[in-house]
Amino acid sequence: MSSIALVTPSSELLDRLQRTVDTPLLVQLTEALPAHPAELFDRLAGQIPEVLILDAAPPRAQEALALAAQFDEQFPNVTVVLVSDEAVAIGLAAIRAGVRDILHPQAGEAEIRWVLDRACKTSQMRPAGFDPLHQSVGDPQQGRVITVASPKGGVGKTAIATNLGVGLARHEPGSTVLVDLDVQFGDVDSALDLTAEYTLEDAVNSPAAQDPMVLKTFLTRHRSGLYVLPAPVMPAAADGITPEQIVSLLAMLAGEFRNVVIDTAAGISDPTLAAFDISTDLVLVTSMDVPAVRAMRKELATLAALGLSDTTRHLVVNLAEPGGGLTVADVEASLSSAVALTLPRSKVGLAATNQGIPLLESGVRDPLTKELRRLLARVAPQPAHRSPSSAPASPPRPRSPRLFIGKGSRR
Ligand SMILES: Nc1ncnc2c1ncn2[C@@H]1O[C@H](COP(=O)(O)OP(=O)(O)OP(=O)(O)O)[C@@H](O)[C@H]1O
Ligand SMILES: [Mg+2]
Repeated sequence: MSSIALVTPSSELLDRLQRTVDTPLLVQLTEALPAHPAELFDRLAGQIPEVLILDAAPPRAQEALALAAQFDEQFPNVTVVLVSDEAVAIGLAAIRAGVRDILHPQAGEAEIRWVLDRACKTSQMRPAGFDPLHQSVGDPQQGRVITVASPKGGVGKTAIATNLGVGLARHEPGSTVLVDLDVQFGDVDSALDLTAEYTLEDAVNSPAAQDPMVLKTFLTRHRSGLYVLPAPVMPAAADGITPEQIVSLLAMLAGEFRNVVIDTAAGISDPTLAAFDISTDLVLVTSMDVPAVRAMRKELATLAALGLSDTTRHLVVNLAEPGGGLTVADVEASLSSAVALTLPRSKVGLAATNQGIPLLESGVRDPLTKELRRLLARVAPQPAHRSPSSAPASPPRPRSPRLFIGKGSRR
């Protein structure tokens, strides 16, 4: 028989089921059901069972159904069986939650064996590797990894990374993950008005670091269809995250998503170098002032010294405004590189950050939005047609700035 997990507070039920199946059950003897699949995998030390038996005796029925529905959506290869003496009362809800069968708590050995045999067969018949998060993604090894970086702070890396992420996700929901590698002070979650349960710190220090399926349960889905892994809640956590862990995590994500977008901190920190290592595209951002352009010149020289000259590069000038004394031609001459795109300074850029709604989500008509669309098309060329199922949701209404909302609400 396949691997079977049981979550129940009843050692009597455990004994009876264990006597019936040939292989040792993965067991959680506990009153509290896990709130979501990641928590269960955590408790099972990263093992993913083929069949999951949830004791749904009152008062746990609703929780068990909610958990079953999450497995149905995120892990359809895991077949869920409930144990309940209220099969009639919960039957319809159970069908809707994708439950395979309901076993009576006093079921005899023959019935238990029959139900579990069928559940195992169901699990084995489902296509291996079926993945609801990105069914439409083609070759999983072809993930594009786009890192947004700059030597200077405040030049618009996060604004650009979040817009690229949202733009790609709206085109093809489930295709894109955004990772915040500004490990000390990352604010991608704020720029997206997102409350995430798990952060980069959780992902690298848990079974998620070993298993792409588990890793996906550590991502938070943004309303645009973008998956997000925010930076740790506290800056001190950055010390415990190694470049090796980051490379391994990014490689796993690149194997699972068509696009991995990475926001970074200013400068060339270890996490940023780790991202450079695995990137297919670098979006290098500078503002239009002499110190920023000089710093970018040094960064380009460093990239060349590191042998990273081959990665596709998109040099972006942000916060451009007339009358500053520098022209795009000056920037190009100083950097001996062509500027791919110039983003104008615009009031809507600041408002978007404060409201947590990227311009490529709200679609506010503005020269900055237009140039961000051009950047998206350049960095990640898309097929011309969009399928009806991937049509974006209507943009949310702008709200007031969220000055006092922080990361404190996580976990
Ligand atoms: N083109 C623009 N027009 C107006 N405001 C902009 C523009 N680009 C970015 N901003 C604003 O500038 C501020 C800094 O942008 P952002 O946080 O994206 O920079 P950053 O490079 O990520 O900074 P840090 O290095 O601190 O992470 C934000 O308030 C953002 O809204
Ligand atoms: Mg930033």
